[in-house]
Amino acid sequence: MLTRALDTLLDRAVVPGYSRVGYVVRRRWWDDDPTPGQLDGHTVAVTGANSGLGKATAVGAARLGAAVRLLCRDTSRGEQARAEILADLPEASVVVDECDLSSLKSVTAVAARLRDELPSLHALVHNAGVLPPDRTETAEGHELTVATHVLGPHLLTSELGPVLTADRDARVVFVSSGGMYTQPLRIDDPEFQLGDYDGTVSYARTKRMQVVLAQLWAQHLPGVAVHAMHPGWASTPGITDSLPRFARVVGPILRNADEGADTAVWLTAADWPGATTGLFWHDRRPRPRNYLPFTRHTPDDAQRLWDYCAVSTRL
Ligand SMILES: NC(=O)c1ccc[n+]([C@@H]2O[C@H](COP(=O)([O-])OP(=O)(O)OC[C@H]3O[C@@H](n4cnc5c(N)ncnc54)[C@H](OP(=O)(O)O)[C@@H]3O)[C@@H](O)[C@H]2O)c1
Repeated sequence: MLTRALDTLLDRAVVPGYSRVGYVVRRRWWDDDPTPGQLDGHTVAVTGANSGLGKATAVGAARLGAAVRLLCRDTSRGEQARAEILADLPEASVVVDECDLSSLKSVTAVAARLRDELPSLHALVHNAGVLPPDRTETAEGHELTVATHVLGPHLLTSELGPVLTADRDARVVFVSSGGMYTQPLRIDDPEFQLGDYDGTVSYARTKRMQVVLAQLWAQHLPGVAVHAMHPGWASTPGITDSLPRFARVVGPILRNADEGADTAVWLTAADWPGATTGLFWHDRRPRPRNYLPFTRHTPDDAQRLWDYCAVSTRL
């Protein structure tokens, strides 16, 4: 009871909860970690796996015995990550797959390859993320953050549905962000065409969409546990390059990449998340999706997000 109250307090207080303090305090009362070998014979695919949290997630899954597929837009960076993972875990099975999540064509191609090569897929971790300073459109005409965080993952989940459902305990994990708490579901303007573009706002809006999309996929993929999570604040190239001032201020209390990736890895393997679906997690506990009243959406808004994704991912 006391631990739950302290956990909630950390969550509401944001800075201690999202920082390393939250991780260190909460891990004292966590259930047992998944055990090495628990994912033997299973495959876990991680997008944006050459760096930061994605690479740490791939390492975490490989430590549990999974064969890992690193879905990277730059295969030379992917191969570099593969070499680093194998240096640590020489027995691991690690394959690099070219995939630009912001390109529907690229997503379709990698999904076809994975369907051809894998009898089943145990977990798909949607980790790839961007925070562009200016509004950018992809070659297919979509705003970059929505393409990378929402449309690519939506299409990839859809295309990999058959191999996910072939695993009797499959998981899909959307790596969102605590920043999503600041933004509502802007389904009236999903590609940020109205008003002055702000990269941080666009990032947070699309991270909100990921949380809603996870709930929607939970309804559309029976038998697969679909969750969203946020990692807190972790020291990664993404944070230091995209938010240098933020990284400088909170630098000393940032989590390391393994600590940031902990819940994503845990969601791929532990029993509790496998027995539920459609939740939003942080530090191995389900969390509220809204703290601010103006961020709430209606079921109709969620349906509009689903329809927008369905229409926008038709090639
Ligand atoms: N670190 C944090 O504190 C924090 C907090 C909240 C949420 N997150 C989320 O955690 C995830 C990982 O972030 P990170 O901090 O680890 O940042 P990171 O080190 O910059 O990693 C981002 C990864 O995504 C890849 N990526 C970006 N666009 C891609 C695309 N179109 N196709 C394929 N891969 C793409 C990057 O590839 P390249 O190397 O080729 O650029 C990189 O591997 C992101 O979704 C981020 O929003 C992180």
